[in-house]
Amino acid sequence: MTIQAELKQIEESAAYLRAALPQLPEVAMILGSGLGVLADSLEHATTIAYHNIPHFPVSTVEGHAGELVVGELSGKQVVIMKGRFHMYEGYSATEVSFPIRVLKTLGIKTLIVTNAAGGINTAYASGELMLIEDHINFTGRNPLIGPNADAFGVRFPDMSEAYSKRLRALAHETATAQGFTLQEGVYVGLLGPSYETPAEIRMFRVLGADAVGMSTVSEVLVARHAGIEVLGISCISNMAAGILDQPLSHEEVMETTERVKGKFLALVKGIVPKI
Ligand code: HPA
Repeated sequence: MTIQAELKQIEESAAYLRAALPQLPEVAMILGSGLGVLADSLEHATTIAYHNIPHFPVSTVEGHAGELVVGELSGKQVVIMKGRFHMYEGYSATEVSFPIRVLKTLGIKTLIVTNAAGGINTAYASGELMLIEDHINFTGRNPLIGPNADAFGVRFPDMSEAYSKRLRALAHETATAQGFTLQEGVYVGLLGPSYETPAEIRMFRVLGADAVGMSTVSEVLVARHAGIEVLGISCISNMAAGILDQPLSHEEVMETTERVKGKFLALVKGIVPKI
């Protein structure tokens, strides 16, 4: 697709949402596997199915609903992407991050990305929450490849603070006030869909990664390109391959996020008013 065609699609999606929404959001959230429940906390909510939004991809994974929910959370207008797109579904990096540009066009300034991730750092335990301090893009893909979308950002965007220090400090403060601590570490993003081998996990540990997952990186690259401030939160849903003497499964991921969602919900609700 040409850049002109992409920009036209973004504008058409944004125009549809502008007409459909009573109020435009300032904060966007992308909720990963099993964490979509936060959308139920929005007041005066408007829900729009992805398949009704022109040019929006649709998610195909269990645990990813495929709805945009806009409403008020802790006094702020937020838009929640309940369900995201992954490259393992067959989408390109650009398609995966298409909604970010649509939301930027609507005026969002902050993005909270969440995901379920495997713990590589052996000091972590399943069920803990980890702030993403930084990422390693191990997907071999980059959504910004191709002619630069000058309307959104520069050709060579800086990534020295992809995950906002200010927002990480706010998140730590909020967790402390709620009586728990957050881990903070490096997220390595892979294509999936197979989970990693134990040898790969040992390699990622040596490379400086603390958690591993199959999302987030493309979204954050596009968000930072467009000057959106980002906070990333991983739910450590399982220990990565080879750490425990047991196989990995999507059921375990879903069970853990289900168990942790109360803590996660309280954390995000506590952070939003301070943004
Ligand atoms: N590896 C990759 N992606 C994941 C994992 C994992 O162990 N857990 C949740 N998402």
